[in-house]
Amino acid sequence: MIIAVDGPTASGKGTIAKRLAAHFGVPHLDTGLLYRAVGRQVALNGGDPGDPGDALAACAFPDTLLDDAILRAEATGSLASQVSVHPQVREALFKRQRAFAEQPGGAVLDGRDIGTVIAPDAEVKLFITASVAERARRRWLEVSGQANGGEAAITLATIEKDIAARDARDINRADAPLKPALDALVIDTTQFDREQAFETVLEAVEQTLANRSAV
Ligand code: C5P
Repeated sequence: MIIAVDGPTASGKGTIAKRLAAHFGVPHLDTGLLYRAVGRQVALNGGDPGDPGDALAACAFPDTLLDDAILRAEATGSLASQVSVHPQVREALFKRQRAFAEQPGGAVLDGRDIGTVIAPDAEVKLFITASVAERARRRWLEVSGQANGGEAAITLATIEKDIAARDARDINRADAPLKPALDALVIDTTQFDREQAFETVLEAVEQTLANRSAV
């Protein structure tokens, strides 16, 4: 069983994917991390993320880079979205993602093109979204430490601008743009807290699986 979880940045798709994987007892791959590693490696190489050659060379990043906390930084996310427009980069990362999806027992993968390109054969396809303002608010709480009473290091307006720019790049790129697969379940979590979002998604997944086994 493959579960594809796509959606824009800060939509909550990563948390939902991780919880679905735990619920069904299958492994989870955060494919955004691979693009973030390429973006980070370009910077380490002193390359230009807009240059296809530099970006392709960075696909040979060492696996240890995947554990580096800097991959989670906003700046790395922005580099990731710049390198991810190059078809050469997407092709270089394809095999690894496809092999993960095909492992016996199944898998959950989250990203932008899982249901459309990596696993168009997935049993369940989800597209998790939320308004730009709500996604910016969630990301701001996360990065500013506001949830723990900390000081804001980056303004909400800056994050909102960055999220809108990343959405535009992901949606408008020619190769594997961010869009729901025709047969994806689109779930808007703007009005939900984390728990409600997960409950809604789990119910939708279980319904889909029940419908599939009934035919
Ligand atoms: O999901 P995350 O925010 O970590 O992804 C970082 C960037 O990597 C995204 O903005 C997107 O441009 C790119 N990405 C992609 N395809 C994926 C996963 C991520 O293009 N499957």
